[in-house]
Amino acid sequence: MKINPKKLFLSKIHNYQVETSKLGVVRYVNLDNAATTPPFRAVQKKVDEYLSSYGSVHRGAGIKSKISTDIYEKSRDVIKKFVNAPKSDYVVFTGNTTGAMNAAAHYFSFLEGKVAVSGIEHSSSWLPWIKAEGIKKIGKKQFDLSEMDNVSEKIQKEGRKQVVQYDVNNEFEFDLKSIENILSTNKIKAFVLTASSNATGYCPDIKKIGEIVHKHGAYFIVDACQFIQHHKIDMQKMGIDFLAASGHKFYAPYGGGFLIGPKNFFDKFISYEIGGGNLPYITKEGEFLRYKNQLAHDPGTPNAVGAVSMMYALEELRNIGIENIESYEKKLTKKAFDYLKSNPKIELYVSEKHLNTVLPFNIKGMNSKKVAERLNSEFGIGVRYGSFCVYNVIRKLLRIEDEKEIIENIKNEKKSAVPGFIRASFSLCNTNEDVERFILAIKEITKR
Ligand SMILES: Cc1ncc(COP(=O)(O)O)c(C=O)c1O
Repeated sequence: MKINPKKLFLSKIHNYQVETSKLGVVRYVNLDNAATTPPFRAVQKKVDEYLSSYGSVHRGAGIKSKISTDIYEKSRDVIKKFVNAPKSDYVVFTGNTTGAMNAAAHYFSFLEGKVAVSGIEHSSSWLPWIKAEGIKKIGKKQFDLSEMDNVSEKIQKEGRKQVVQYDVNNEFEFDLKSIENILSTNKIKAFVLTASSNATGYCPDIKKIGEIVHKHGAYFIVDACQFIQHHKIDMQKMGIDFLAASGHKFYAPYGGGFLIGPKNFFDKFISYEIGGGNLPYITKEGEFLRYKNQLAHDPGTPNAVGAVSMMYALEELRNIGIENIESYEKKLTKKAFDYLKSNPKIELYVSEKHLNTVLPFNIKGMNSKKVAERLNSEFGIGVRYGSFCVYNVIRKLLRIEDEKEIIENIKNEKKSAVPGFIRASFSLCNTNEDVERFILAIKEITKR
């Protein structure tokens, strides 16, 4: 199947017009796909159809309730199938990957042991563990509101002691020996890994790392937020116990995300969020009875549109074919990469070996914010700049060893002191012309 973004997205999205100072009115070029992706045409159409029969999920006896509930429940099966999760696994819907990781961190905080998180992890897959572990360490004490600033600091401090980090080497690759070392010198209960770096696109060998993790008896938790839309994921083959992702990164921006994991794990816990809808009965004393099923982890009226939109997006990705997607996106990224590599004014922070769909770079001597703004205002190209919630990665890529001055400047509210780079990220919404516009723009900006 030949990939044609004009067919995959509605014309009003694909052909979104913007006024620029250099090129006049042009089609907006979205090179910020690692942040979020536009909705597929098929997703919009099917969501629209779903809305025509939309009714209360898991609550009503009316026909709309029944239809809505059936489609909502089907979406769990489609998601599970797409990632080849074990049949008995639960798909717990969340708002996004951040929500999924907060839920996972909450559950694991009841268990004994430490958490290992990679040094290239997005803050959303790192900080929830620090918070949850820190709260556990603080214990059952009660505090006065006036003490809470100190308590919050203490939570962080204690949490950090429980969350060990393993890092990439100078080639920006995980060293399996150091992973092995971390697992054999600490009692790790949960090992968290990003399937693809949001800053460089680097994809570690999930399967190999999973084998080491399991050898040491830890649960393997994978953040597939930047992966699922570009590469084949197979929970069973890769040995993934828990998988998190966000719909808005795979063409379903309706506010859905998920955490997939084993039934026999979730069943042990009172749901992370609790309230109406997921409990069969509450006694006079307030004791609540709970069934050990997936629904017990689905309190409140669910974001059904978020859930079903993810199903529709994954169906579309399956129809297009993940190998097809990989080769289409890689071709676009490689063309832009080759140009950036040939331009001596560019500092590129990804090697060809790790090249996927993300291009992190800076223009020597220019502020990344200014470059990003010029790409937008002069050439109608949207990219992201900044530190991408991965400060360890920024320090590594930009070779920052002494951060005293940066900290001082930031404390003095000099926002431009935050180190960062520009990220151009590609997806199915891009075309060859987009890459040509990007190259033209960088040529112009680096001319003087
Ligand atoms: C690798 C990775 N993990 C987690 C997140 C958080 O995702 P969300 O904002 O959808 O919760 C992001 C967002 O950019 C990400 O890139």
